[in-house]
Order: sequence, then structure tokens, then C-alpha cells
Amino acid sequence: MNPPTELTLPNEINLMINIDHVATLRNARQEQFPDPVHAAVIAEQAGADGIVFHPREDRRHITDRDVYLLKQVVHKKLDFELSMADEVVALCCEIQPHLATLVPERREEVTTEEGLDVIKHQDRLKDVIKRLQEAGIEEVALFVDPDLHQIEATAKAGANCIELHTGDYAIAKSEAERGIIMARMAKAAQVAHNLGLRVHAGHGLDYSNFSFFKRTVPHVSEVSIGFAIISRALFVGLEQAVQEMLRVVKGPL
Ligand code: PXP
Repeated sequence: MNPPTELTLPNEINLMINIDHVATLRNARQEQFPDPVHAAVIAEQAGADGIVFHPREDRRHITDRDVYLLKQVVHKKLDFELSMADEVVALCCEIQPHLATLVPERREEVTTEEGLDVIKHQDRLKDVIKRLQEAGIEEVALFVDPDLHQIEATAKAGANCIELHTGDYAIAKSEAERGIIMARMAKAAQVAHNLGLRVHAGHGLDYSNFSFFKRTVPHVSEVSIGFAIISRALFVGLEQAVQEMLRVVKGPL
């Protein structure tokens, strides 16, 4: 378990852009375009703090070709999302991204549906985290629901970051439901921060729901956003879509 280190509140939030959705569109037609690597270059030049990609076990969107090219062309931060499968862990160790984010993976899901059960998979996660750290990867995050037991288990497993699953917040149907979820989220972020974990967040964050999230959870230092930005890019272009999100993420409360 990490010794709790004094982390200060982040001054600014990093915006990491998930480009999986570009690969999904490409692969739907079994085409060469649109190229997620091209999207990564544009997003980075537009001011994004880094790029996120998730080579799933079935390679349904990001392929090995994309992974190797992203490693070469992305100059800022690379976040490699991965399951605990041996073969993908080996690929991640080879690529040595700045950040490896472990997520659960089920073949039948359309997107990542829930956080990791860190308690259930404690032993396996400890091994995988150690392997990633020994490969030289500085930040290892676990994607978890805002559940205090899971967060404590994350620190025990040896990770140094947590990515809070914001999906339930994004799909909440009423102000009351949103309020309850965000109270849980704020508490989870506070506990993670006190345990010395850096706090990231992602899933379903968009141009309109981000401001309330940011006001409520001051411990978040990094967010991973994909679907909202890639969707908006269809109408305004990727550069503008990224810059609009940068204003939302980094702007005043
Ligand atoms: N974080 C994780 C762990 C994810 O699996 C995803 C979805 O790919 C995201 C963040 C980004 O979610 P969205 O595409 O809804 O912005």
C-alpha cells in the first residue's frame, strides 16, 4: 500500500481525449479512415493535455497498429486503458505510457459499464500493478465506482491513481439523483486524496454536465473525455470541439 503522501489540491484539470470512438467509426466500415492517430495529432495540437486509448482484448476499435503509431506521434501524456489480460498487460509494458488505467472488460458490453471490483480481484491486480510499475510506468490508475471500500482497496493494491467512474452521474434523471451521486463522488474523491491517490475521472462527461461536476469535486486533477468531443467534432471539426471542451474544463467555476 502507498504511504499516504501529502497531495495538494490541483490548480488545473488536465484534459485527456479518448480517441477510441474514431477507431470505432473506421472499423465499422473496415476502412483506413477516419484514423484515430490523425485525430490524436489534431487533438494534441488543439491543446489537449494528452490522449487516451483502449486496445480491447477483441481489438474492436483500437488496433495494435494504432497503439504503436500513437506511441510514436503523441508528444504529451499517453493514457493506455487496459484489462488485466496477460497479452494486453504485456503490450502496455512494452509501450510504456505515462499512465496505465486498468478497467474491467466484458466482450458483450458496448462501452465500459462499471468500475473494477478491486476487492474481488485484489491479488491479480496487485500482480498486474507491480508488473506495470516494474516496466517503468509511473502512474497506474484503477477505474472504480465512487465506493469507499473500492478506493481503500485501490490504495492497498499499490496503484497511485484512481479514475472515478462518472457514468451514473452522466445518466442521472433528476437534480435530486444527481445531487446524491455527486455527494458520494465528492466523498470518494476526498478519501482517495487523503490516501495519497491522484484523482482522475471519466465516462459520459460532456459540455453541459462538466461544470457542476467540477464545482462539486475539487480533488480531480485529470479527466478523460471522448464521446462528447468526437460527436461534436462531426459538426464543428475536432480542433474546435477540443478547444471548446478545454474552455469548459479549465475555465472559471
Ligand atoms: N474513462 C474510461 C475508463 C472509459 O472506459 C471511457 C470510455 O471509453 C472514458 C473514460 C471516456 O468516456 P466517454 O467516451 O463517455 O467520454
